[in-house]
Amino acid sequence: MDSQTKILTDKIEKAHLGGGEHRIKQQHSKKKLTARERVDYLLDTASFEEIGVLVTHRTTDFNMDKEIYFGDGVVTGYGTINGRLVYIFAQDFTVFGGSLSETHAEKICKVMDLALHMGAPLIGLNDSGGARIQEGVRSLGGYADIFHKNVQSSGIIPQISAIMGPCAGGAVYSPAITDFTMMVEHSSYMFVTGPNVVKTVTNETVSSEDLGGAHTHATKSGVAHLTAVNDVECLDQIKALLSYLPQNNTKTTTKIPFELQDETREQLATIIPEHSSKPYDMRRVIYGIIDDDSFFEIHKEYAENVIVGFARLGGRSIGIVANQPLFLAGVLDVNSSKKAARFTRFCDSFNIPLLVLVDVPGFLPGTDQEWNGIITNGAKLLYALSEATVPRVTVITRKAYGGAYDVMNSKHIGADMNFAWPTAEIAVMGAKGASEIIFKHEINASEDPIAKLAEKETEYAEAFANPYRAAQRGFIDEIILPQDTRRKLLKAFSMLEEKTMPLPKRKHGNIPL
Ligand code: COA
Repeated sequence: MDSQTKILTDKIEKAHLGGGEHRIKQQHSKKKLTARERVDYLLDTASFEEIGVLVTHRTTDFNMDKEIYFGDGVVTGYGTINGRLVYIFAQDFTVFGGSLSETHAEKICKVMDLALHMGAPLIGLNDSGGARIQEGVRSLGGYADIFHKNVQSSGIIPQISAIMGPCAGGAVYSPAITDFTMMVEHSSYMFVTGPNVVKTVTNETVSSEDLGGAHTHATKSGVAHLTAVNDVECLDQIKALLSYLPQNNTKTTTKIPFELQDETREQLATIIPEHSSKPYDMRRVIYGIIDDDSFFEIHKEYAENVIVGFARLGGRSIGIVANQPLFLAGVLDVNSSKKAARFTRFCDSFNIPLLVLVDVPGFLPGTDQEWNGIITNGAKLLYALSEATVPRVTVITRKAYGGAYDVMNSKHIGADMNFAWPTAEIAVMGAKGASEIIFKHEINASEDPIAKLAEKETEYAEAFANPYRAAQRGFIDEIILPQDTRRKLLKAFSMLEEKTMPLPKRKHGNIPL
């Protein structure tokens, strides 16, 4: 080896060691992979090309010039996942705890720029103690540069964040702006201020895990879209998620070859219970419609009264938004409206057609909901669906009551095809509530008010607890048998494949945030 080659090889070897053997051991002892191991596992074999491997920080304060590591705590570059170009950064906790210096931020910004210019997804693997304390405002500036680029890229390229270690303070806002945040259970946490600050300011005692662990963010805050039991599962989830997404907002996802066969699904005919107040699992409906084993659920444990996720239908990627009668009878509330609205907007940004499955008794009543802004939050979903220009198809399986009927991708707000099962009940409200209001005088004057109410309830239900009035008006395009749903949807989405809807010139709408 000549001397020049040796100089270069030595430097690269050093860079590959990050913060050194003992810190790598510490990382492994926490059941975490190193940044390089993560990149190697995620990307196709030998596809990774590193950018900026020899970058070092420029700080001299606090004797920092005596402690220099090649790469400065972040591995950045590009490669492929199942043959598709992606850009990646992976923070290296073994170097200054993966903390973000000015140069560390510059490296991230460089791949963000490339991802945006080349129209390819950006993946960030976060594992960092936050702003490099020795650098002060320069590191804060670095964060802001990243946030700004996250926003510039939003809706143009998919941005995915995996939290695989600490992510605290300002660091949380980059993942928060990206499209999907994944967290590894027990080794990752996210919070704006940690347990010590919480104790000082509010006198609350809370552990890191309870404050901002994966379970907390997957169930309580909704910050985490997906959780994984370990690093490997998290990286596998990124690969799976990407398979449903296009490279950028000008592309569509690659269609898996598909041939129409007998698409009747008899199992769909027996899902709706005989009594309309009985719950059932809307996932059974989803499984009966989509291609086998293709459902990729998002926000599974958060606001479970609505289901959102990606699936394939005839080999095409679609997004599904569905009420879930199994939780809170499938009502729309603050959290489920936000969850469904955000997912809808993602699908619309990236040309992913939307299927909306409806069984909704209305919006959840009560002071808690009103005081937490169900009006503004419910309006988010209404707005998101109304503005979506991707192909939009609705199937009403059972209840579609009140304002929630309008919101859940009704014909009136621009859905392309609206189907209903014969079990659909499309009305202003349930038969009991409606009868109590409109037949109040008749019921009160009756000798047997209970029997009268029951009689009026039946009368109202016969008139309105069905899809026929809506079909007469053309609000429903077709009433279909459940077992024919998959076939009908395959045809509808195929018919809508080339849908284009030019948008009027405006800066942006003003969604009620
Ligand atoms: N800036 C500079 N160095 C940092 C750092 C930061 N923000 N966070 C961690 N480090 C360094 C530590 O000094 C330590 O260095 P060493 O290997 O030379 O000893 C190394 O990273 C690992 O940190 P350590 O504290 O030993 O790891 P831990 O797993 O016990 O704890 C944290 C991890 C993130 C909880 C802890 O390091 C921490 O609280 N960091 C500061 C977080 C913060 O307040 N950031 C600024 C606000 S955004």
